[in-house]
Amino acid sequence: MQMRLLRAVGWSLAAVLAVLGVAVFLLVLTLKKDAALPTRNKYGLVFDAGSTHTALYIYRWPADKENGTGIVSQVEACTVSGPGISSYADKPAEAGASLKPCLDKAMKIVPAEQQRATPTYLGATAGMRLLREQNSTKAEQVLAEVAKAIGQYPVDFRGARILTGNEEGSFGWITVNYLLETLIKCSFTGKWTHPPAEVVVGALDLGGASTQITFLPGTTIDDSSTKALLRLYGTNYSIYTHSYLCYGEKQALKMLMASLHQDSQTPQQISHPCYPKGYQENVSTADLYDSPCVHAPSTPSPAQNLTVTGTGDPTACGTAIEKLFNFSCGANRTCGFNGVYQPPVRGQFFAFSGLYHSLHFLNLTGGQSLSLVNATIGQFCTSSWEKVQKEFPTMNRTHLRDTCAASTYALALLLQGYKFNHKTWLNIHFVRQVANVDVGWTLGYMLNLTNMIPSETPQRVVGLQRSNWIVATVLLAIMLILIFGLLTVICCQKNSGYESL
Ligand SMILES: *[C@@H]1O[C@H](CO)[C@@H](O)[C@H](O)[C@H]1NC(C)=O
Ligand SMILES: *[C@@H]1O[C@H](CO)[C@@H](O)[C@H](O)[C@H]1NC(C)=O
Ligand SMILES: *[C@@H]1O[C@H](CO)[C@@H](O)[C@H](O)[C@H]1NC(C)=O
Ligand SMILES: *[C@@H]1O[C@H](CO)[C@@H](O)[C@H](O)[C@H]1NC(C)=O
Ligand SMILES: *[C@@H]1O[C@H](CO)[C@@H](O)[C@H](O)[C@H]1NC(C)=O
Repeated sequence: MQMRLLRAVGWSLAAVLAVLGVAVFLLVLTLKKDAALPTRNKYGLVFDAGSTHTALYIYRWPADKENGTGIVSQVEACTVSGPGISSYADKPAEAGASLKPCLDKAMKIVPAEQQRATPTYLGATAGMRLLREQNSTKAEQVLAEVAKAIGQYPVDFRGARILTGNEEGSFGWITVNYLLETLIKCSFTGKWTHPPAEVVVGALDLGGASTQITFLPGTTIDDSSTKALLRLYGTNYSIYTHSYLCYGEKQALKMLMASLHQDSQTPQQISHPCYPKGYQENVSTADLYDSPCVHAPSTPSPAQNLTVTGTGDPTACGTAIEKLFNFSCGANRTCGFNGVYQPPVRGQFFAFSGLYHSLHFLNLTGGQSLSLVNATIGQFCTSSWEKVQKEFPTMNRTHLRDTCAASTYALALLLQGYKFNHKTWLNIHFVRQVANVDVGWTLGYMLNLTNMIPSETPQRVVGLQRSNWIVATVLLAIMLILIFGLLTVICCQKNSGYESL
């Protein structure tokens, strides 16, 4: 009997050891598999073909979390050298060729085995809208050439197209709210919560050829052409959005120059109050009147050269810029400008791209009061060309020349155009990036076209993680040990039973 009992104990010990062995093996296996296969990443590429330049954004996100929010990161923003694609209207093939260095860079970043599954888009904005207005054949040719160039790369290319102004505004709004996690938030317990509507922010975007304002108004939107209905994460948003074509920075400064020319007493001389005193340059009327945004004088004169002289006069500069806007508005409604309906601004706003850049150079993006902003711009505008060049020797000359005009324009757009005031000014946050991602329409565009923002609240939060696997394996082992222990006890009792017989 002693022997049998010993044998039984021996067997069960062996069994327990075997189970432990299997458990350890499983554990090691899962750990090893986790190490060899880190959370798989997905990539997405979006070309932002703007009026002044093109940039390629490379995004990455963990494949198992794609329905969450705030999980997309920006790996790279590659600036295409040369002008915007609309500038290649007369040599479209070069527009395609210009994209290649950035595509080559992307192919180095996206792992080879992921490339064919990488959604790739090209979206063109106001520069191409203007070209299409001038000659739609040329716009089509440019788009065909850039599509051909991207098509030569082993990516999942999903087309090159011109965004509407409303799309540009809406996607910018989606981008900033996605990055701020103001639409939906995943708490640390893994539960999805909808933050209150008041935390949703508005978006203010200033490009080279257009500007967009997009926000959640407190009232109903009277003009359906400015309304966008979005269903995101199970919530409906009725947002106001409008894009003003020609009111991007570059086109606005062109309109300013044309307006100064037409008001000029001396036909071949332009006194420019927004250019620094002592600055002088020649421009041709052909260059000045080459855009659909500027209206050529009613009595066309042969192409001529004009001499532009800076006078550095901030008051005259502000007055000249205000003349670019038409502030009359029909009765019973509130307007932005040029008769476009706009509800009063409401809540916090994030201002990016040109609005950020024009004020950042003057160190005015840190929440300064409006009076300080006004004073700083006024002071810069009175500085002579000689002085600003000495003060900022490394700064690009064109940027330096345009700083006064651009910052004065940005301020006029926000205050007189979009109707911010001394109080609501402090609700505008000037940013280039949020969560290390450049703010613009591209991320929102990709999120929408890849269905990464579900219209309903996501169900599953995270998959089984490595720690869960370990816990599961250990629990399984303990369970097996208990079962074997139990079996041993039963077996021994049975044996002792026979013995007593
Ligand atoms: C994301 O949502 C879509 C549709 O709602 C679903 O088909 C997909 O499986 C989800 N993906 C993940 C990783 O949860
Ligand atoms: C538009 O461009 C095409 C191709 O360059 C040219 O043949 C056509 O004459 C242009 N049309 C207009 C209206 O300028
Ligand atoms: C301003 O807009 C109104 C309509 O909104 C129009 O009647 C008026 O002619 C415009 N003024 C100028 C100077 O363009
Ligand atoms: C902005 O601040 C930096 C550092 O504080 C300074 O070097 C620069 O001159 C400032 N720029 C202007 C336009 O005042
Ligand atoms: C995003 O995509 C859906 C279809 O997937 C579409 O119905 C919706 O209007 C899009 N959102 C925007 C802002 O275009």
